[in-house]
Amino acid sequence: METKQYTADKITQAAELIRKGELIAFPTETVYGLGANALDEHAVKKVYAVKGRPSDNPLIVHVSDFEMVKDYVTDIPEKTEKLVDTFWPGPLTLIFNVNANAFSNTVTGGLRTVAFRMPNNEKTLELIKTAKLPLVGPSANTSGKPSPTTAKHVYHDLHGKIAGILDDGPTQIGVESTVLDLTAADGIPVILRPGAVTQEQLEQVVGKVRVDQHLISEKEAPKAPGMKYKHYSPEVPVWIIEGDQQVFRQAIEWAKNKNQRIGLFADEQVIDMFSNEVEAVFSFGEHSVEQATKLLFAGLRSLDEQPIDVIFAQAFPESDLGIAYMNRLKKAANQKSLKIDSIFE
Ligand code: TXA
Ligand code: MG
Repeated sequence: METKQYTADKITQAAELIRKGELIAFPTETVYGLGANALDEHAVKKVYAVKGRPSDNPLIVHVSDFEMVKDYVTDIPEKTEKLVDTFWPGPLTLIFNVNANAFSNTVTGGLRTVAFRMPNNEKTLELIKTAKLPLVGPSANTSGKPSPTTAKHVYHDLHGKIAGILDDGPTQIGVESTVLDLTAADGIPVILRPGAVTQEQLEQVVGKVRVDQHLISEKEAPKAPGMKYKHYSPEVPVWIIEGDQQVFRQAIEWAKNKNQRIGLFADEQVIDMFSNEVEAVFSFGEHSVEQATKLLFAGLRSLDEQPIDVIFAQAFPESDLGIAYMNRLKKAANQKSLKIDSIFE
C-alpha cells in the first residue's frame, strides 16, 4: 500500500478513507495518532496489527466535542463538566464506564471502561466532524518506539502499512495526554498516566486527585493494561543524567573508558560544552522542561539513527511538566540513571 502524505487541508479525502475502514495518521497537540473508525472492529484490529501492539492494551477514542461521549457511556460523573470546560480540547484523556456493546473489546481491551479525548488540533477536529465518527488514536508509532511528533516519524515507522498521514507540522507538547480515570468507587479521579495537564491543575478544578503510583514508578505490578510493556525505547541504551555538567563530564569519561560512542540529549549549554568530546548531539535549546518535553521523542529518534553505543539524556526535577517528562524518559532508559555518586562505585 502506498502511504499518502496529505497536507492538513485535505480533510475530505482523509475522512473518506476513514469511513471506508482505512487508517489515517492525524496530528494532535501531544503526538501524532493513528486514526481509525472506533466503531469498525476490523479497522481497529488493523491498528493493532500495523503498530504491533499487544491487543489487551485499550485505545483512546477521539471525539470532536463532549456531546459525542454521551452516546457511549453509562454515567457522567459530576466532576466531568468542569474538567471538560477547563481542559477540552486539550491533553486530558477521561475514562468513563462504557455502555455494553458500544465498542468492541478491541477498543476497550475487554475493560468495562473507555477512554475519551478531544485533541486540540483544528484539522483533526475537522477530520472527526467530517467523518462523523469517533476515532481510535494510539500514538502512530511502531509499538515500543518513541511516539511520533512529526509526520516524518510516522512515515518512518508506518509507511506502506497505512493509507495516509495528515501533516500539520511538529506537535507542540511532545508527550501523550494525561490519562484520568473517573470511575473510582469513591469518586476521586485517578491519574493513570502523567501528561501536560498536571495533578495541581486538575486539583484546582475538581479538588483531590490521586496519582496511581504503580504506573509512575512501575516498581510493582501495573493495574491498567498498557503500563506493563516497555515503551518509548530507542535501540541504543539510554541513561538519565541527574545533576549538573559535572555529572555529564563524569558520564562521558565513564563511557569513553569503555570505548563507547556517545550521544547527548541536553540543553544548549551542555551541548556546547561537550560537543567536541562525543559522537552525536541533540540540543533541545534553552534549559526549559517545556522544550525538553517537546523534543524528547524527536531527540531519541534522531540519536538512535547515529552510530553510537549509549545516549545520555538530561534529567529535570519531577514537578509540574517534569513529572511527565521524567516518566517518559525513565521508560526510555529502562529506569537507568547516573548520579554523581553512583557512577564509579
Ligand atoms: O496524547 C495522546 O493521548 C495520544 C494522542 C494521539 O491522542 N494517544 C495515545 O494513545 O497516547 P495510546 O493508545 O498510545 O495510549 C493510551 C493509554 C494507554 O496507556 C492505555 O493503557 C490507556 O490510555 N487506556 C486507554 N483506555 C483505558 C481504560 N479504559 N482504562 C485504563 N487505561 C486506559
Ligand atoms: Mg503510545
